[in-house]
Order: sequence, then structure tokens, then C-alpha cells
Amino acid sequence: MGRALAHARKRLPGFDDPCALALLPEPYKTLIERKLRGEWPRSGREAAMSFGAEMMERLIGPRTVVIDEALCEAPRRRQVVIVGAGLDARAYRLGELSESVVFELDHPATQRAKRERTARLVPLARDLRHVAVDLTREPLDEALARAGHDSAAPTSWLIEGVITYLHPREVEATMAAMAARSAPGSRWIATYNEPVPIRGVFRRAFAGIGPWSNEPARASFSRAEMRALLARHRFRVASDRDGLERVTHIGVPASFVDRYIVRFHHVLVADGPQP
Ligand SMILES: C[S@@+](CC[C@H](N)C(=O)[O-])C[C@H]1O[C@@H](n2cnc3c(N)ncnc32)[C@H](O)[C@@H]1O
Repeated sequence: MGRALAHARKRLPGFDDPCALALLPEPYKTLIERKLRGEWPRSGREAAMSFGAEMMERLIGPRTVVIDEALCEAPRRRQVVIVGAGLDARAYRLGELSESVVFELDHPATQRAKRERTARLVPLARDLRHVAVDLTREPLDEALARAGHDSAAPTSWLIEGVITYLHPREVEATMAAMAARSAPGSRWIATYNEPVPIRGVFRRAFAGIGPWSNEPARASFSRAEMRALLARHRFRVASDRDGLERVTHIGVPASFVDRYIVRFHHVLVADGPQP
């Protein structure tokens, strides 16, 4: 919903996601269409969801621009692995991936729903491969090897909006598996949350999760902890921007939400493996 709003309202320079609205399940799509026509919410629930979509536009919009930049500045012919792809439409909207093989790795249930909605879309990527895997049951490396991922060629890894749902030990294990499949010239792009000294629904709000959903907010890291995690796997941080730094980077005036809420949410870009 946040991406569909950002695409339609064009308030964020560099943001473009023409697939976002089409990928939404019907009730959410209708809600956004009505919101864009300026109609009032019809219920308290709709008003809350509309507010959530506004927050997500601010959280996901600038983060998308920064991630797109980091993906597109890498050499054109490469492998891109999107871990926990969800409704990510990069394989369908980024012409810069036209020489790349994109692996969308996701939980089988999420991937099934996504594939139903993308059935009529044509990928711009040279090759799009779907890898269904529940990371709590199967390691990422075996599933990727089966799908034809080449660990001797460079990979751009993207793990966006996923780390917060994992336990710190699962983050470490997933990082180790990605590092083991990273040839020189690989890039690692991720979002993560800084720890916030509060609990309950507000803690989830700061993690970019619907405050009243039952989704967990698990792993969080300081900048130094993230840098150390990457160094353990021979990756060096190229940039690490919090929410305020992201809006500054794309040239948008900072709002209250950027300054005090989205601020705790980072986009990190790292290169490796270092010799
Ligand atoms: C909040 S969504 C983020 C989606 C997308 N990367 C984005 O930023 O829009 C979290 C994603 O993590 C995936 N995920 C969560 N737990 C998983 C697991 N155990 N195995 C594989 N994928 C998982 C979900 O299926 C979902 O696609």
C-alpha cells in the first residue's frame, strides 16, 4: 500500500513502482484507489489502514530509492538474490536488471500468493527464478544451489524487511550462508532496525510493523553491531543510512515521522568478500 501510494503521489524523487497497486489483494487495492480519489474512510478500521499506508509510504518509499540505487550501480550482468521477496516488483520494473538472473526466494505460502498476482506481468530481468523455502526449516544455500545459483559468480543480495522477523542467531546463520555463496565483487543490501528502548505495540511501530498485528519484532542491531557482523563474514559497509539520512539523500524535507519513527530503520549496503 505504501508503494502504491508513493507511486501515485510522486512526492519522493526517484521512486517508481508501477506494479505496486496491481500486486495488492483486492480490499487493499480498493482502499488505496478510494484514498487517491480523496474519499473519506468508511470505518474506523479503514481509517487506521489508511494511516498505516501513509506511514508505510514514508518508511518504504525512500528506502526503495536507496536500495534501487545500490542494486543498479552494480555491474549489469550478475545474479540478484532477493531473500523474502514478498511483493517486491524489482524483477518486473528495473530495466537495469535486463542482463541479470533474479532469484526470488520466499516462504512457500507468500510465494504462491505473489505468483498468482504476477501471472500477467512480464519480467524485465533476463531470467526470473522462484525459490520456495521456509528459512526456519531449510538452509538458504541448498535451495539456491538447486535453483542454479552460481557461487563462483558475483551476487547482489537483497534482504529487505526481513531481518526484524528473525532471531539474531538466524540472522547470523543466514549471513554465513550468503557469505559462503558470495564470489568477489558481491554486494549485500539489507534493512535492519536499531534497538528502541520501548516495548509492546510501540516497539513494533518503530520496527515498521503494524502496531496491532501479531508479527514479531525480534532482531535489532546498533550500527556498530551490524558492522561487526558483516566484518565477521568479510563484508565491508559502504553505506548505512537511517530514515532521516535517507530523506536527506533523496532531497526531501524531513517530516516528524522521518525524524522520530522511521529514523530507527536502516538501509545498509556492504561489499565483499574482502581479501
Ligand atoms: C515484510 S515482508 C518484506 C517483503 C519485501 N522484501 C519488501 O520489502 O516488500 C517479509 C518477507 O519475509 C518472508 N519470510 C518471513 N519468514 C520467512 C521464512 N521463515 N522463510 C522464508 N521467508 C520468510 C515473508 O514471506 C515475506 O515475503
